[in-house]
Amino acid sequence: MHTPELILKKRNGSALSKAEIDYLIKGFTSHAIPDYQMSALLMAIYFRGMTAAECVDLTMSMARSGEMADLGSIKGFKVDKHSTGGVGDTTSLVLAPLVAAAGGTVAKMTGRELGHTGGTVDKLESIPGMNLELTKDQFIRIANEVGLSLAAQSDSLAPADKQIYALRNVTGTVDSIPLIAASIMSKKLAGGADGIVLDVKTGSGAFMRKYQDSVELAQTMVRIGDGAGRKMLALITSMEQPLGEAVGNALEVKEAIETLQGRGPQDLVELVLELGANMLMLCGLAGGLEAAKARLAQCIEDGSGADKMAKFIKAQGGDPRVVKDTGLLPRANTRIEVTAPLDGYVQRIDALDVGMASKLLGAGRTTKDEVLDLSIGLILKKKVGSQVMAGEPLAELHTDGNAAKVDLAKTRLLQAYTIGSRPVPQPRLILARVTADNIEEISYEE
Ligand code: URA
Ligand code: CA
Repeated sequence: MHTPELILKKRNGSALSKAEIDYLIKGFTSHAIPDYQMSALLMAIYFRGMTAAECVDLTMSMARSGEMADLGSIKGFKVDKHSTGGVGDTTSLVLAPLVAAAGGTVAKMTGRELGHTGGTVDKLESIPGMNLELTKDQFIRIANEVGLSLAAQSDSLAPADKQIYALRNVTGTVDSIPLIAASIMSKKLAGGADGIVLDVKTGSGAFMRKYQDSVELAQTMVRIGDGAGRKMLALITSMEQPLGEAVGNALEVKEAIETLQGRGPQDLVELVLELGANMLMLCGLAGGLEAAKARLAQCIEDGSGADKMAKFIKAQGGDPRVVKDTGLLPRANTRIEVTAPLDGYVQRIDALDVGMASKLLGAGRTTKDEVLDLSIGLILKKKVGSQVMAGEPLAELHTDGNAAKVDLAKTRLLQAYTIGSRPVPQPRLILARVTADNIEEISYEE
């Protein structure tokens, strides 16, 4: 095959065959096809899109570029959850132990921060001693013993995605539905779960800002997973404002533990119960969504979710005492309040700006291999719908005291808040449920 000809074919709007896609992905992964040709192809895909068949072929080719995990030696139905990326999205840290406490098996590979969003691996590493770089044997043994193991994605998981993602990040080709779908689903399919619940975010803090695009992305991914023989379901959820109150690594672990103990912010609890109930349904462990939610709420109330968290932390080398005493997590030495400039109601909190404020404070990497201060982040004291008086705290910055970073973060955070005289209702969180052939709108409004 001839690479320039395949680029032209896509550029001119024709669909590529499975063999052609395999040739391109294999060639790029083995460095036979250079970055400039792949960049041109990605841009052609960005503008021309892909057919459903091309999406499946691209995903499978990327999934098979590395090792396909075989979780067959973990007993039971393995369920995974994946979020397309949000701000302060603490759900995995709460969901995984809760679903395991309710009888599900969660063996999940997870990532580090991406763009303005945080990563579960970084968050969990704030627990003293915690090891996310598990060998395959450790991963399987812990899943069997605890019902829950979480491992950092290894370099052998969908290496084609890693290389393509790095190119997309710098060539203006991130926000393409087929490319995002193939990126996420190649990793999920290679990760080996039997069932996957997708949390597709929409709004200012999401990679897909428009609702209709999020629905299309969700359905594309569900169809890819169905085609590969996995049980799939996607929820469309709002990422207009950050989820919960904590944004930042150790702060989100603390928020997760408090949520497992029944003291979580209302929006985080709502999302965890909805996602978790759908995970239990895929596992065949619940008769209906309401019963599944009640079962999960019970695991919060009776402490079994928090117990599962402690067992999981211990199994992965961490200090399980953090569940009883979150004071053992790293703590920033300085706290600075950001106060409201005027009286009114919080009408909007731009999630992207909040994510960036946290990163500017130092909660995110500025170079690839930077070691993070995991204590840094922020706590939102007022969410959308709250009434606020001038001078009252909107948020609390947790910082190492670097004045220049604090100034940048403060400015960005104030920019995130829109305060007006008109009260606004609490925004809706769970907008729609998407399967291969159905879109059920739950609370979406134009
Ligand atoms: N997350 C991914 O893993 N890939 C994308 O392309 C976007 C979000
Ligand atoms: Ca949060």
